[in-house]
Amino acid sequence: MKRVEVSPLAWLDDIERQRRAAGLRRALRARPPVGAELDLASNDYLGLSQHPDVIDGGVAALRTWGAGSSGSRLVTGNTELHEAFEAALADFVGAESALVFSSGYTANLGAVVALSGPGSLLVSDALTHASLVDACRLSKARVVVTPHRDVTAVEQALSSRAEDRAVVITDSVFSADGDLAPLRQLHDACRRHGALLIVDEAHGLGVRGTGGRGLLEEVGLAGAPDVVMTVTMSKALGSQGGAVLGPVAVRDHLIDAARPFIFDTGLAPAAVGSAWAALGVLIAEPWRARDVLRYSAELARVCDVPDRPESAVVSVILGAPEVALAAATACLDRGVRVGCFRPPTVPAGTSRLRLTARASLSEDEMALARKALTEVLSTA
Ligand SMILES: Cc1ncc(COP(=O)(O)O)c(C=O)c1O
Repeated sequence: MKRVEVSPLAWLDDIERQRRAAGLRRALRARPPVGAELDLASNDYLGLSQHPDVIDGGVAALRTWGAGSSGSRLVTGNTELHEAFEAALADFVGAESALVFSSGYTANLGAVVALSGPGSLLVSDALTHASLVDACRLSKARVVVTPHRDVTAVEQALSSRAEDRAVVITDSVFSADGDLAPLRQLHDACRRHGALLIVDEAHGLGVRGTGGRGLLEEVGLAGAPDVVMTVTMSKALGSQGGAVLGPVAVRDHLIDAARPFIFDTGLAPAAVGSAWAALGVLIAEPWRARDVLRYSAELARVCDVPDRPESAVVSVILGAPEVALAAATACLDRGVRVGCFRPPTVPAGTSRLRLTARASLSEDEMALARKALTEVLSTA
């Protein structure tokens, strides 16, 4: 057979051209060290990634336990540090137990896949995080995606099912818009139909609930026996890693069955040490969780966003991807880094600036933000 001499990667040129034409090319930008730009883009909501105690916690763990965890937690990667942190985290959010994963992404994959599976039903909000979407794809369960925050649709999916087991999954705070899931109503629907509720509190931890204990705590569902919570330590805790929190039976099952737990190297000790120290700061300084909401309200006012934000996230919808990208670049030119979300992260026609508030913002920083955003948005 005659072979055509074409690079097996030639198709990437076509894809790249299409993306460029649609304004959807992404570029990595290496950020300079702290202080060079005002950060209104990161998920470091409480400003803890640079907190001296949090850095010291990481350094101490590094010195005691080494740079890497050295293996899967089932082999050599499980240290006393991991288990002590799990106990502290579970205690903080009011859960019976916690299991640390190497990221929030793997925590979601592990929890959803291991708690659903063939012969079960997974009901997922349409705007859940990509890690939950991927978990649905991996689960081999029947998946029903319900319209955003639509409890009636969830109830209908649960009541009309043929499967014995059902799991409802949602973010507590949705990452792109920063709005909240109707957790109480979802939980009531789950109770009525014998379903498990899995809630991703990636953006709720440190921001919602008493002293940042999360939205589940805020609505009175901390420690509920039919609720599983997932978190990441990479946002409000300023570190890295993820965790699944819930009944001890869930933890035990995940250790046996969650592939992203079993076949992944345990979280690096420095990340655990920093996350634990961050938890200590959060407990000692509960004002941080309040301040982040105060600043997000102020940013929303500056950007003429009509609804008061319910989280650290302020979404300024601009429509076309090129418009959003140009506005984000103009902000950066003025020394302010903001997020820019375009499809496929958000639906077509809703490209946006995604600003995130931080509890540690100073008055000078807020003044710079006000000036830059007002200038840029007046011409966007
Ligand atoms: C809602 C949500 N869940 C999970 C994750 C994944 O967490 P991690 O970055 O720790 O993998 C993210 C991070 O972007 C998120 O926004």
